[in-house]
Amino acid sequence: MNAENPGQRTSAHRPEAPQAEGAPIAARPAAVVVLAAGAGTRMKSRTPKILHELGGRSMVAHALAAARGLDPEQLAVVVRHERDRVASHIAALDPTALIVDQDEIPGTGRAVEVALDALAARAALTGTVVVTYGDVPLLSTGLLRELVTRHEADGNAVTVLTAVLEDAHGYGRILRDDEGAVAAIREHKDANDDEREVREVNSGIYAFDARVLADALRRVTTDNAQGEKYLTDVLELAREAGGRVAALVTEDRWQVEGANDRVQLQALAAELNRRIVEAWMRAGVTVIDPATTWIDGTVRLAEDVTIKPNTQLHGATLIGRDAVVGPDTTLTDVVVGEGAHVRRTEGTKAEIGPGATVGPFTYLRAGTVLGADGKIGAFYETKNAQIGRGAKLSHLGYVGDAEVGEGTNIGCGNITANYDGVNKHRTVIGAHVRTSSNTVFVAPVTVGDGAYTGAGAVVRKDVPAGALALSVAPQRNAEGWTEAKRPGSPSALAARAAHEKLSQTASTPSTEEGK
Ligand code: UD1
Ligand code: CA
Repeated sequence: MNAENPGQRTSAHRPEAPQAEGAPIAARPAAVVVLAAGAGTRMKSRTPKILHELGGRSMVAHALAAARGLDPEQLAVVVRHERDRVASHIAALDPTALIVDQDEIPGTGRAVEVALDALAARAALTGTVVVTYGDVPLLSTGLLRELVTRHEADGNAVTVLTAVLEDAHGYGRILRDDEGAVAAIREHKDANDDEREVREVNSGIYAFDARVLADALRRVTTDNAQGEKYLTDVLELAREAGGRVAALVTEDRWQVEGANDRVQLQALAAELNRRIVEAWMRAGVTVIDPATTWIDGTVRLAEDVTIKPNTQLHGATLIGRDAVVGPDTTLTDVVVGEGAHVRRTEGTKAEIGPGATVGPFTYLRAGTVLGADGKIGAFYETKNAQIGRGAKLSHLGYVGDAEVGEGTNIGCGNITANYDGVNKHRTVIGAHVRTSSNTVFVAPVTVGDGAYTGAGAVVRKDVPAGALALSVAPQRNAEGWTEAKRPGSPSALAARAAHEKLSQTASTPSTEEGK
């Protein structure tokens, strides 16, 4: 399997992600701070909120990817709730991210303050500091870049990303002065009735001048309805100190939407998927039923791929030109070659060669490599199996820890008995072999090129090239057994009727006999 370097066969048409973002490049921000200390109790889960997944990765993985896309000089993530689990998850995703522990002082302002202290201890912070949330998974690098570009071009002290919502309940409201300039953010719980009428809300995503931010945070108090240190108080303080405070209003509310419970998470997952599927259709992929097609952001598809209903494509899955995948197929880290057909299949860490066919009702486990124009047919399970070019495993069987040569035809119901109860062993079958129905290969065993097996053979010894392997005991028929041992049963009556018919035919002379 080469998910990293997805196969020479498909590399000529290595499909690219369609959602490339091409905003003008701003300067490198000094830092991005991702806030992730909150508890997320509404998920009602033993899993920390930001570890819940959509589109094949955790919410915080999406947040980190968007932040990294800005190429900041430093990146910090503030943690507290479920600290160890969250920290090790982040360290695995992004080893150079600085993990900062928030103390017992609550609030987004405190979270940013501890991050700034930790960052400044490593390198002097001047320029732009961006703040984002770990639970806002659809936020893109493109929108962040737009925010930073605007912030720096206008020489702002603070630029806040805002959106205008139908229902602004619960959000911090953007308060503007008579000239329409941003004056302050008022938290819902602290707002009066007039302020609650405002529909422009704070997304919680900002670009700050590092020095203004640090100075203002030192002066923020916990004197408010929630007894927290509000990051939002920085805007008023920055303005009082003579800085420019502005807003970038986004039309794309999905990009600033957080997931607090599983209903919101599902809505975000569906929207993310809708965007990914639409982007692939625009890039030349036919998707028969977008509503039942789920594609992770990490998957790559070539032009003229067709995806049939009820298909899920995960991880490093890569699908080559003209391939048809689905219906009812789930592929995780699977490379599908050009023009291959894969239907009603579950596959993981497998490679399907160009022009090959798989399914229906097929289970490809890790290490399955099917050669060009090969076939793994109905009701087959394979694992750690290299199947040669044009080889066919057509129906009903298990091939594991095995190698099958080019052009070989494996008969119906063949099994590699790879497990002796303690260890796994290998079966090696050569090229252009023909195995008859119900052959069992008792591994370790080798079958030479061009060999045959007889029906029901139990192959315990190596078979030389060109030999026919038979392991049949002579068949013996106990005549009259059913009528003697199962008298009166439907089988016995049927046998008796057959005998009577036979003896009649035998005793009726016929001129037409044997014509
Ligand atoms: C915050 C904003 C509000 C905005 C809203 C957008 C403040 C005071 N209010 O409100 O104006 O409309 O976000 O969703 O900033 N966090 C920490 N440490 C803390 C508290 C929060 O790291 O002590 C993190 C959370 O994990 C989360 C983010 O900050 O990622 C926002 O926290 P949350 O409690 O959802 O903020 P709100 O009060 O809803
Ligand atoms: Ca929130």
